[in-house]
Amino acid sequence: MLLTAGACIGAIVGRQRQLSFPTGPEAPTTGGRICEHGPVAEPGTNRRGTPEWSDVDAHGGAERAAEALAAITGVPRHDVAVVLGTGLAEAADALGPALSRHGLDTLPGLPTSFVSHQTSEFRSLDLDGRRVLVFLGRLHLYEGYPPAQVVHPVRTAVAAGCSTVILTNASGSLRPELRTGALALIADHLNLTGRSPLSAHPEAPGLPSPFVDLVDAWSPRLRQVAHGVDASLTECVYAQLPGPHFETPAEIRMLRTLGADLVGMSSVLEAIAARQLGAEVLGLSLVTNLAAGMDPDGVSPDDIIGVGQDRAAQVGRTVREIVRLL
Ligand code: HPA
Repeated sequence: MLLTAGACIGAIVGRQRQLSFPTGPEAPTTGGRICEHGPVAEPGTNRRGTPEWSDVDAHGGAERAAEALAAITGVPRHDVAVVLGTGLAEAADALGPALSRHGLDTLPGLPTSFVSHQTSEFRSLDLDGRRVLVFLGRLHLYEGYPPAQVVHPVRTAVAAGCSTVILTNASGSLRPELRTGALALIADHLNLTGRSPLSAHPEAPGLPSPFVDLVDAWSPRLRQVAHGVDASLTECVYAQLPGPHFETPAEIRMLRTLGADLVGMSSVLEAIAARQLGAEVLGLSLVTNLAAGMDPDGVSPDDIIGVGQDRAAQVGRTVREIVRLL
């Protein structure tokens, strides 16, 4: 959550650090505007919530964005996509030197609604011969984006060749023993958003079937690889709620009864979209807080971002080792 929030979230985020948007010979940068006041409509891109984000458009739009991505990066195909969640942007540095870095707004279909604590950037890098796309942020339902736009970066990455999608996020823990700072593996999910990125045109010809089998949505094979990198990773059920507000203690009790271990505001719709397209999905969730009602100090966006930033390098190293073993 929170990563690509518009002005409403920007207002509640106290710890807004001024992030630079580095450039240099080793990392040519294109675009990359940071806007503190919500999305900026660009010619040819969609405004949030507009009905033109039908599933038919979305798949074609992802193909076109993938073509643009290949042209921008000079890399015809990528292998692995990594999406970095709240506070985790600096994990990108631990993945290795970027061959190129670009503003997210250089990709057709991506708005520019980035608060000042966030780098609105994606990178292309080579990790032991694997071409890796790293998104330093994501779109969220709670910003008002429709599901098809929320999953646009992931669809674009798969259209660009990525057969593995690694989703990271920040979450609240429903299990007292799963403490702040712990990294967990998403083994299954509860989609409590009431939304699907596949619902617009279920029968549309030429599109992959929307009736996607979500047993093993979170790849058992990739989870094995992750366990090999970090034996302390705990397998968890992650519940995505729409947000942007946090939960009530009663809602947390309900989620626990439903079988959730972690709660957050992202990733599930992206995983569903990736699975529709046949990509393998790995989910890594950083526990940034105990869920509502479990900590007398409550839940604070500042603390969530702070824990993410403190743990970003370690998360990046874990992702790097997993990618090496793919
Ligand atoms: N609830 C919802 N989303 C979150 C939380 C939480 O406690 N922590 C980090 N993202």
